[in-house]
Amino acid sequence: MNTDKILNGKNFSEQILSEIKLEIDAITTRKPSLAVVLVGEDPASQVYVRNKKAACTKVGIISIEHLLSKNTTQDELLNLVRRLNNDNTIDGILVQLPLPPQIDSKVVIDTILPNKDVDGFHRYNMGSLALNDPKSCPCTPNGVMYILDTVVSSYHGKHAVIIGSSNIVGRPMALELLNRGATVTICNSKTKNLASITATADILVAAVGRPKMVKSNWIKQNSIIIDVGINRQSDGTLCGDIDFNDVIDKVEYITPVPGGVGPMTIAILIKNTLRCYHQNQRILK
Ligand code: GUN
Repeated sequence: MNTDKILNGKNFSEQILSEIKLEIDAITTRKPSLAVVLVGEDPASQVYVRNKKAACTKVGIISIEHLLSKNTTQDELLNLVRRLNNDNTIDGILVQLPLPPQIDSKVVIDTILPNKDVDGFHRYNMGSLALNDPKSCPCTPNGVMYILDTVVSSYHGKHAVIIGSSNIVGRPMALELLNRGATVTICNSKTKNLASITATADILVAAVGRPKMVKSNWIKQNSIIIDVGINRQSDGTLCGDIDFNDVIDKVEYITPVPGGVGPMTIAILIKNTLRCYHQNQRILK
């Protein structure tokens, strides 16, 4: 296998984190801090939160975890978010999604101060991205752009196809690519003739949550394939939305699962937290 084709997100992520660590080591006053809120006991969310906390520790960000029961009411969660908004020693707030059904995640996200919104999910931040005036950008799509920018010199005239239109990945991903000048098509799992559309993509981003859905006859020769899917297989191993072994000979570049997009999400979260810290420091002056 030609490993030059593999876009190693883990390496990029480690590089970003080590640069940030140097910057934080040099801070002699209060260190940056991130409040991480987890409601309930969803096993996947527990893993994500653990990884986010570990990255904070690695670079010297203080992470403060708030573990709430799955029966937490919306008002209780909103009160916690307001308390964190008003706490000058907290720079970033992350409420892990999904939330239990009694809580409206839109209301919670809208309550987080936009300049503490390390996820970039608040409508002010999402709106700024839509207007090509990015502030805090959603971590996964921004991490994908970091990877793509290492191999794409110009997006003009490039057809980017995204499978998936979630608020967390698909939509902001489309906006990021649009802002770079790509021609963007957003599909979902019910799109008619999906494989014939993906087969015209110079850049294909799969974020649909269907294990190994994209096969070699779905893609264009020498295209760039970004796999955002993380699916647990019956043998316990992870796979993406792309059938990696089936497509590898045809691609120009591809991100693996694991070790592709996943580590980038965390690196951008840390980057966003540091930016929120600097903003908070300016406000407090
Ligand atoms: N759930 C899945 N991905 C994410 C993410 O990037 N941020 C938050 N807060 N929740 C998530």
